[in-house]
Amino acid sequence: MFNIRMNKNFFDSFIILSGISLQIWKKLVVFSHVKLKTQLYMFKFHMEGRGELFSGQKIGTGNFRDCYSVENHKDICIKIIKPDLERFRSVQLRIFRKNIHQEEFDTWQWLPKEIKNYFNPVFYANKCFSVCPRPVNDDGSYAQSLRHYKRIADEKFWEEISFIYRFIDQNQLWFLDIFNGYNTYIVDKGKEGFSPLFVDYKQLGWKAFPLQLDLVFHIRRKEKLKRQYERLVRNYRE
Ligand SMILES: Nc1ncnc2c1ncn2[C@@H]1O[C@H](COP(=O)(O)OP(=O)(O)OP(=O)(O)O)[C@@H](O)[C@H]1O
Ligand SMILES: [Mg+2]
Repeated sequence: MFNIRMNKNFFDSFIILSGISLQIWKKLVVFSHVKLKTQLYMFKFHMEGRGELFSGQKIGTGNFRDCYSVENHKDICIKIIKPDLERFRSVQLRIFRKNIHQEEFDTWQWLPKEIKNYFNPVFYANKCFSVCPRPVNDDGSYAQSLRHYKRIADEKFWEEISFIYRFIDQNQLWFLDIFNGYNTYIVDKGKEGFSPLFVDYKQLGWKAFPLQLDLVFHIRRKEKLKRQYERLVRNYRE
């Protein structure tokens, strides 16, 4: 569906997609007398319904992707593959997960209704980037990760985490990257209390863990999920 042309250096290239373009500028900031060079990248991309958009500040980084705010659109963010990806991760993506953003978008589509509200939607995805909402609290401030909070006592929050764990365990969904402090966000819903929201949920299936071949076995995935859930509770419950 998308026609992509790229030159050798990703960050010196224009990626031209039919109907979607991601244009990258490189700026060099040199502070006088201080031999400090900072490279800032700004991405221009096109999203249907919103037109041309520009990336703003980097708001988060993971093993695979960087997440940026979007200028003049406070409600969304853009995720792109990290330019300084570790060699192993880069090979992993090239061989097994060429469509990592689209896979997550597809996952969002089929999520069961019982747990769907706990997963941050993916609005748009293609081979190069994805766009998703920035979760907000009842008072309009941005929601933060569990790691940011460090500890949380709220009973309702932990009941919901327990419900999600039991649901995905019983239904063998094996989301093996949601129960950690970086990917679990806390949304303050005012009178309704605190709720978890997963902003990253792409690690499903064996291709996400090519070095852990034991995960082809159902029992090993079940054990891993349990370990992750218990670690989350141990590390973050007050
Ligand atoms: N919707 C969002 N709103 C605000 N911050 C976000 C959002 N999505 C991601 N982030 C931040 O950006 C970071 C990197 O994004 P993400 O977790 O999707 O990258 P990843 O490389 O796929 O992660 P991982 O290392 O878990 O595989 C997150 O840890 C989080 O801090
Ligand atoms: Mg992540």
